[in-house]
Amino acid sequence: MKILVTGGAGYIGSHTIVELIAAGHEVEILDDMSNAKESALDAIQKITGVYPKLHLVNLMDLDKVLAILKDGNFDAVIHFAGLKAVAESVERPLWYYENNLIGTLNLLEAMQTYKVNKIIFSSSATVYGDPGTTAFTEDLPSGQGITNPYGKTKYMIEEILKDVSASNPDFEVTILRYFNPVGAHPSGKLGENPNGRPNNLMPIIMKVAQGEYSELSVYGDDYPTPDGTCIRDYIHVVDLAKGHLAALDHMEKGVRIYNLGSGKGTSVLEMITAFEKASGKKLPYKIVSRRPGDLAEMYAVPTKAEKELGWKTSLTINDAMKDTLKFLENIDTL
Ligand code: WQD
Repeated sequence: MKILVTGGAGYIGSHTIVELIAAGHEVEILDDMSNAKESALDAIQKITGVYPKLHLVNLMDLDKVLAILKDGNFDAVIHFAGLKAVAESVERPLWYYENNLIGTLNLLEAMQTYKVNKIIFSSSATVYGDPGTTAFTEDLPSGQGITNPYGKTKYMIEEILKDVSASNPDFEVTILRYFNPVGAHPSGKLGENPNGRPNNLMPIIMKVAQGEYSELSVYGDDYPTPDGTCIRDYIHVVDLAKGHLAALDHMEKGVRIYNLGSGKGTSVLEMITAFEKASGKKLPYKIVSRRPGDLAEMYAVPTKAEKELGWKTSLTINDAMKDTLKFLENIDTL
């Protein structure tokens, strides 16, 4: 297939591009490079032998998006592009709603205009809000109790996609709800390298390991979990990328929704221990107060994806730590 990947130069997008090329698909990237680096494209070339075509465009620019879809002859779109920093979305809600919602509306309008009828959307477990349970299945209600505008844009885009699907019987939508992506490509050439100050646990651990930050702040050790720290479902980014391939192979008319997670929960302290074991070095940390909005424990029930897409994770937290360390060895030269 010929696939347009929005946000394809970013962390999850670039790993997905590698898997798409390896599976024989033709890809083009639409990315404004606001949270990506050109070196990701060089890395894709080193790994796959293919330098993907980049459209340096922001999805807010409808005329350019229309032109790309007009000329592209695409069979499908995988839509990663969007702003994704939780704290920033609380500070600048209008910017988040504008970028994520209008960007998606423009993309959908261009797809409708040029009859591209397949879309895979990069959603998040954040759409479940606080459903009052720890094991998340796709049939839990979504949209209630989401604590930040970023998460709300993911939920709203899911709803928009359902409405577009209802209006167009030929439209094929697959919504993938990611849990916590971590790790890097095993070549060490591709990984998470965000611009600016990171918000998520793994990039912060990386900065502490590099000596850029003096220590990790662990947000609370008084949660009702075995070691008192929060539990999340961390999924290796290569497993996550392969989930998109499985989804692409199983698209149908209408809307399908899948959790992409490992099904296993890991605490913050367990993540620190795993990183220390892989690196052979202590990771300095201190316990600080809870971060508002954090749930004590959540993990995916990933059985629907296994049954319907034939996909499940095969890599572990230890693999993610090893691959992250390999990426860290190269990061200065990337
Ligand atoms: C993981 C755990 C923190 C940083 C968020 C979004 C979600 C998705 C991924 C992405 C938590 C703890 C973290 C730190 C810490 N969106 N932590 N010290 O909160 O599960 O999910 O990111 O684009 O929508 O909500 O992920 O990586 O921020 O935190 O102790 O400095 O690590 O409390 O338990 P989270 P996270």
